[in-house]
Amino acid sequence: MSVACIALSLGFITLAVAPRTHANENARSIATANAPEAPKKVIIDTDPGTDDALAILLALNSPELDVRALTVVPGNVTAQQGLENALKLVSLTNRCDVHVAGGAQHPLFQKLITAELWHGANGLANVELPPSKCKADPRFGPDLIIQMIHESPHEITLVPVGPLTNIALALLKDPSIVPLVKEVVIMGGSISGGNVNAAAEANIYNDPEAAQIVFHAGWRLTMVGLDVGDKTLYDQAHLDQLSKTHGPENDFAVKVLTFLLGQEAKYGAGGGSPMYDPLAVGTAIDPSIVSTQPMHVDVESRGEFTRGETVANRRNAVERNVLHGDRYIIEGIDHVDPNVQVCTGVNAEKFLQLLNSRLAGK
Ligand code: BDR
Ligand code: CA
Repeated sequence: MSVACIALSLGFITLAVAPRTHANENARSIATANAPEAPKKVIIDTDPGTDDALAILLALNSPELDVRALTVVPGNVTAQQGLENALKLVSLTNRCDVHVAGGAQHPLFQKLITAELWHGANGLANVELPPSKCKADPRFGPDLIIQMIHESPHEITLVPVGPLTNIALALLKDPSIVPLVKEVVIMGGSISGGNVNAAAEANIYNDPEAAQIVFHAGWRLTMVGLDVGDKTLYDQAHLDQLSKTHGPENDFAVKVLTFLLGQEAKYGAGGGSPMYDPLAVGTAIDPSIVSTQPMHVDVESRGEFTRGETVANRRNAVERNVLHGDRYIIEGIDHVDPNVQVCTGVNAEKFLQLLNSRLAGK
């Protein structure tokens, strides 16, 4: 029997077993339209960190998300402190079912820079959480990311909210994950100046080579940058609102936010504390919170003043300069493909209310 015949007879069997009618197709599409959307499976790659901790609490208290794992990257604190913090956070939320795995110990090509100045000596605003009752997953974070993506193809959303070392390591080890990931929503970068210095945002500055790999992997990537995060200012009124609620998670969140408002009063521009990492999680929960524009973005790795800057081409075009004798002549314009959905706007109050309501839920 030829291959075509086999295919035809298999087709016949299918038809015989499940006759397709317009009536049952319509019924199916109505059922699909009415079915509640399944929660998004997410892996949060994090360097916890005060705002990381709030982002994790937001994620774990949001029914729109199914948090599969926290993978830990060094950044705000060392890899070891970060793992301890992540374990304490899942323990606080009674979520030992969430895998927590350590990953890289340092950035790809540079020394680690930690940020206890901003996040407190333990990274969690100096709040001492009880020892964790949850255990670390023994897998290496990037391997766990690879494995989970293969187990749930096209379903996993990656939410990196620290330096991009672990994500780059996963990509380098197994580039076949790229088309299998649903989406990547990162907190990092900026298209209008940095927080480490004039040019660079901390997560990108702490591993620019990793960031360039992640930005150019070819997957759908949304950049929730510093400049939109700076519009989500958590202020005293939000804190007063949250302080009226009580529970182990709320009480911890209130202490962290009190610390952050204190830091802001000391070093900040006023108006409240920016909710950088929670906004990336908020974007995964409800993408309508932000507006985006597709742009070609590169990560500067060699500039004397600009290492770690995310250089965004808003026109997605470059001039074509051709050498003629002793000078170049512009002969046309070349299109460059956008590789990033850059967040350019945010409905800040809608997001801050979502954050407060989810933190108050426990
Ligand atoms: C980012 O850097 C870290 O300090 C925060 O956790 C956030 O991910 C903001 O630049
Ligand atoms: Ca972070």
